[in-house]
Amino acid sequence: MPRKINRMSLRFLDSADQVAAIVARFGHRPAHKLTTSYATVRDYCESLDHLPKITGINGDLKNAQRPWAVKAVLAQVPPPARVLEFGGGEPIVSGFLAELGYEVTLVDPYDGFGKGPIDYHRFREQFSHVKIRREYFRPGMAGLAPASFAAIFSVSVLEHLAPPALTACFEAIAEFLSPGGFSIHCFDFILQGTGDAHHFAQAQAILAEQQKLGGQAPDEPLEQLVERLRTDVETFFLSPQGHHLWRGDRPYLEFPFRKVVSLQTIAARSPAA
Ligand SMILES: C[S@@+](CC[C@H](N)C(=O)[O-])C[C@H]1O[C@@H](n2cnc3c(N)ncnc32)[C@H](O)[C@@H]1O
Repeated sequence: MPRKINRMSLRFLDSADQVAAIVARFGHRPAHKLTTSYATVRDYCESLDHLPKITGINGDLKNAQRPWAVKAVLAQVPPPARVLEFGGGEPIVSGFLAELGYEVTLVDPYDGFGKGPIDYHRFREQFSHVKIRREYFRPGMAGLAPASFAAIFSVSVLEHLAPPALTACFEAIAEFLSPGGFSIHCFDFILQGTGDAHHFAQAQAILAEQQKLGGQAPDEPLEQLVERLRTDVETFFLSPQGHHLWRGDRPYLEFPFRKVVSLQTIAARSPAA
């Protein structure tokens, strides 16, 4: 993933023209309506064409998820809106959005949770244009004003959360998102293989929280969405190479292949939430 190194800081974009072109291309796109969807090869290739510096090619799901999150934020709220990412790890998405002109706060404990990074001090130096808070995202966080963010988003975080943490994150979203603001998330979903039943229940819990926040019934039940992605030739899957990265040094039989996709959900906070 090529990045321009300028002293200690990491920047992805070289010019105001690049920023303007990205905002013009992806701003206010009807394709990213309020809905639940899944990552596609078409969307990934578009990201490779137009957002190459944040679109990896190593077969990982994040290669599709990170640029999707950027495009989803751009489609809903134009810069210089205030946005918050929780569980950002290395601030690739947050840093990129800050370069596009957003005022970005990133909340992450940087304690290795979910195999996330722990390099808080390095990220503070390299991404000084992002306000990084080293803590878990939760209701009542000091220093954040209620209803003060136009969008709150996450990338590959929600699938890792146990029920109390998931509830706490959505309570915090309801507290810190402005009415009409957008709750935007993509998360890993095991379609087939070890863990698939757990991930189906987790996806149901996540989408129920989104529905509560938005006050609107989903336009498509999860079961139907899953059947659709199962037969769609465009569905973006974690590759065998990506699985190999995830497996690390575990023996194959301890971590055999599973079919994994990315689910994506966007809801607008209703004034009543
Ligand atoms: C799998 S990593 C994903 C990192 C990053 N989003 C990316 O795309 O590379 C999950 C991250 O979520 C963070 N995390 C887990 N629970 C969290 C919570 N309740 N609030 C904020 N961050 C959390 C972890 O510290 C970790 O950095």
